[in-house]
Amino acid sequence: MIKIVLGSDHGGLELKQAIKTHLETRNCESITDLGTYTTDSVDYPDFAEKVCTSILNQDADLGILVCGTGIGISIKANRYKGIRAALVHDTFTAQMCKEHNNANVLCLGGRTTDTDTALTLIDTWLDATFEGGRHQNRLDKLDA
Ligand code: RB5
Repeated sequence: MIKIVLGSDHGGLELKQAIKTHLETRNCESITDLGTYTTDSVDYPDFAEKVCTSILNQDADLGILVCGTGIGISIKANRYKGIRAALVHDTFTAQMCKEHNNANVLCLGGRTTDTDTALTLIDTWLDATFEGGRHQNRLDKLDA
């Protein structure tokens, strides 16, 4: 079973709440919401940092980050060595980012992706399996 951490800014708050509710229907060991918790304006890098640090400290296996577009929060997440964050908008990239890139953070836009689509993308990502092999060689080069 996996441990998942969630984070968002105010632009991703509403979608994050829906994601949390959805994940509770799946067989996760834990789902931890690291904020933000209100609609007050906050800075997305702070929540990317909380989620990425949790994964790098091995307190969690996977993370989901949401901001208005998913762009800023994915940029920040990918500055951490060992984090492979993928901003996705469709099921093909949601599947590929696990199968080929072993993305350990999925990024979504609360203002760009509707809730039903976002939950489908999350299920696609969680249900996909990293293929390893030549793809592992490439991942090794990311962190070299
Ligand atoms: C906040 O207004 C917005 O800029 C942020 O959520 C995100 O879209 C940045 O990439």
